[in-house]
Amino acid sequence: MIKKCLFPAAGYGTRFLPATKAMPKEMLPVMAKPLIQYGVEEAVEAGMDIMAIITGRGKRAIEDHFDISYELEHQIKGSSKEYMLKEIRDLINRCTFTYTRQIEMRGLGDAIYKGKVLIGDEPFAVLLADDLCTHDGGDGVLSQMVKVYEKYRCSIVAVQEVPMEHVGKYGVIAGKEIDDGLYMVDTMVEKPEPDEAPSNLAIIGRYILTPDIFGLIEKTEPGKGGEIQITDALMAQAKEGMVMAYKFKGKRFDCGSIDGFVEATNYFYEKGKKES
Ligand code: UTP
Repeated sequence: MIKKCLFPAAGYGTRFLPATKAMPKEMLPVMAKPLIQYGVEEAVEAGMDIMAIITGRGKRAIEDHFDISYELEHQIKGSSKEYMLKEIRDLINRCTFTYTRQIEMRGLGDAIYKGKVLIGDEPFAVLLADDLCTHDGGDGVLSQMVKVYEKYRCSIVAVQEVPMEHVGKYGVIAGKEIDDGLYMVDTMVEKPEPDEAPSNLAIIGRYILTPDIFGLIEKTEPGKGGEIQITDALMAQAKEGMVMAYKFKGKRFDCGSIDGFVEATNYFYEKGKKES
């Protein structure tokens, strides 16, 4: 029922400079696969087949990745390396990729708003590819969230418990736990100081949003850091109606940071060794 997944990928990725000077952060590989491909695979597993990507200057490698490279295909055809392109070829055949650019980096809320033209008037998923999520043997995080959406039909944010000293890096929620790991949100604060945080439940880069969010973003003034914060628009949505927070099952690596990226690489390397 949710067919479209939005990938805000316009950020500068300053924590990975100089690697991200001319290369999109979303193309950094964990093992031999770029972060954004993991994200697209998670969306496909959740039943989505339209990938709406918000890009910016210097991000063209993302478009090229989700396209055929005829010279390369020709070069490796019939060789022992042909299988290495199979996964990406399957994604290209299965999905439609649409793009628009965010001209000025005015924050995640603004990046999502730029996706309005690609999404239209239907519920959609949002996936931040630098949050790499895995749930070995179980449903991916977006699949889990789609199931919650089917029951409650409202916007849903994925949350994870983080140490109190780290809450300042995230949007943080509080609310009533109505089911195991499922909260009806009544408070949401962007990057709070630990002593002001309503809980240690941090929003990570997975959302299901209902399309009325676009009207709410329009009304959202710049917040923390002078950016249009999706958290502020979601707080307005929670006040008007209902927003859920879902404590997902699985692991999440913050691949926007060096530590998280190295951790993810080690994890997938060990996993690959066990499987082979
Ligand atoms: P981050 O906060 O990780 O920012 O954005 P960043 O620019 O990517 O990385 P650093 O902090 O400079 O290292 C979270 C997500 O939101 C997107 C980013 O691409 C990333 O996926 N984003 C953020 C946008 O698309 N546009 C924005 O204006 C801000």
